[in-house]
Amino acid sequence: MKVNDVSLTISAVQKAQYPDDARPEIAFVGRSNVGKSSLINRLINRKAMARTSSVPGKTQTLNFYNIESQLYFVDVPGYGYAKVSKTARAKFATMIEEYLTTRAQLRGVVQLVDSRHEPSDDDISMYQYLKYYKLPVLVVGTKVDKVAKTRRNSVERMLKQGLDFNPADTLQLFSAETGFGKDEVWAWLDAHTEV
Ligand code: GTP
Ligand code: MG
Repeated sequence: MKVNDVSLTISAVQKAQYPDDARPEIAFVGRSNVGKSSLINRLINRKAMARTSSVPGKTQTLNFYNIESQLYFVDVPGYGYAKVSKTARAKFATMIEEYLTTRAQLRGVVQLVDSRHEPSDDDISMYQYLKYYKLPVLVVGTKVDKVAKTRRNSVERMLKQGLDFNPADTLQLFSAETGFGKDEVWAWLDAHTEV
């Protein structure tokens, strides 16, 4: 999709605030600081539509971005950030679960994992959770500009092995810095949001 028109429709913390039209939605989940907001910005060719930060825990609400009045990208708070209080983490978890398990127009989930490391326990739990709810998943290995080109195949294997990857899903390496993988991510998004 060629994107010119993007706006933040709402930062929601509860169901009643979700947009009330029936456009397809794609959620972006992953560990805090893994690059969710940066991926969204790269996909829509904006520098700072989705707020990014080197400090983990920047995104604290479900942010619904209206893409060309055709679909929504939903930027989700990151998981696994130790410095967020236990109470706040439990609140995030409830908010994210409510969204992922009840939203009829959710067509698929982009789960981001860091290309430089083996998937964490939280990454593995999240992936299993999405599979349990039968959600189509695109796993994106982020920050691949930090990985030597010659290691890309082995990184892909490491991520798939660590997640016990379901062959029905797709894995794509990505860099928000260089745009590597952007077309492939869009191809997956287009295929999963057709109306
Ligand atoms: P939370 O909102 O806290 O959950 O984080 P997030 O997942 O939205 O991460 P964000 O996009 O804010 O990026 C976190 C940091 O990683 C920032 O300093 C980004 O500049 C950096 N970053 C994100 N993507 C890439 C990438 O592809 N390559 C490199 N080198 N750095 C990246
Ligand atoms: Mg963010």
